[in-house]
Amino acid sequence: MTDTHVKIFDTTLRDGEQAPGFSMSAGQKLQMAKALEALNVDVMEAGFAAASPGDFEAVKTIATEVKESVVCSLSRCNEGDIRASGEAIKPAAQGRIHTFIATSPLHREFKLKMSKDEIVRRAVAGVELARNYTDDVEFSCEDAIRTERDYLKRVVEAAIKAGATTINIPDTVGYTTPQEIQDLFEFLVTDIEGGDGVIFSAHCHDDLGLAVANSLAAVRGGARQVECALNGIGERAGNCALEEVAMALRTRADFFGLSTQIKTQGLYGASKLLATITGNPVPRNKAIIGKNAFAHESGIHQHGVLANRETYEIMKPEDVGVSTDNLVLGKHSGRAALKDRAQKLGFDLGENQLQTVFVSFKALADEKKEVFDADIEAIILGEAVGE
Ligand code: KIV
Ligand code: ZN
Repeated sequence: MTDTHVKIFDTTLRDGEQAPGFSMSAGQKLQMAKALEALNVDVMEAGFAAASPGDFEAVKTIATEVKESVVCSLSRCNEGDIRASGEAIKPAAQGRIHTFIATSPLHREFKLKMSKDEIVRRAVAGVELARNYTDDVEFSCEDAIRTERDYLKRVVEAAIKAGATTINIPDTVGYTTPQEIQDLFEFLVTDIEGGDGVIFSAHCHDDLGLAVANSLAAVRGGARQVECALNGIGERAGNCALEEVAMALRTRADFFGLSTQIKTQGLYGASKLLATITGNPVPRNKAIIGKNAFAHESGIHQHGVLANRETYEIMKPEDVGVSTDNLVLGKHSGRAALKDRAQKLGFDLGENQLQTVFVSFKALADEKKEVFDADIEAIILGEAVGE
């Protein structure tokens, strides 16, 4: 493991699955877990073992079946939750317990009704208990972003002393900004006592549409684990999208100087599987894995892409598992794209024929949203018969 490696901690099966409309059966969770393992995620959060007997079994099954990724279970800082997680991850080749407690003033006063000292005691006890089950213990300060910095430092230092090996800083309500979170991570990485060898992790929600930008800024500040979910699913507006953060780090390696171990060619397939399983289609214009992410319809763009893909593509579609035949023929398309498609369909159109086919194609494109290969074939053959 190098200092330039950013761990991808996938929480599709926990934070993602707990969002309304995204729940999965145990069998579906296992199918997704296999897809996440094939993507080569460093860690997958398989669920919240204490949430229900079904969740416990799902985590245990995933822990039994998955060999290449660390399998993790979430627990509040209480004995029952931690013991449930500990038992559920027992069969794992590599198992992690993730335990959390809220630290912000709002959560302390209105949710937990606990004092600062009590929360520190609970955090320490939780981490110590978790260490009885595994050496790989992650501790999160829920709503860390809205926590006073000196208190956050105190809780984090206590958790590390108790044995936490990963410290996660959640932006639970998606409130932070890139500059603010980068500054916070810079502070944590340099000022936390006992922090050497500990991985600092970002967990950003997307309430302001900033989850990916904030996660990347956290990484710039020294985070070496990003918590994220496929298709960006998660509580409310969702989590940082796995496919976006992985491709941003890959595409702009020149800027970040960092890498992940994600096999990006599997992203499109895994995203589609999740959409099918949960019944939630991916928006057409979604970055990286949306249907339009590599599609070009306007004549100017098609002309450019046919000459050199890099004119309008910053990533290769095949690098995320998308087929390369992505010129959509419609009313905005030009002659170059039509000629190219005709050639792929086996028709070498001369200038005059291209012109007549183009006129018919434009007339049809005005009536239909998308012109398919069969339409083009019919136009070309119709013109030939008519000659
Ligand atoms: O958003 C959050 O704070 C969480 C924690 C449980 C890590 O999901
Ligand atoms: Zn979350």
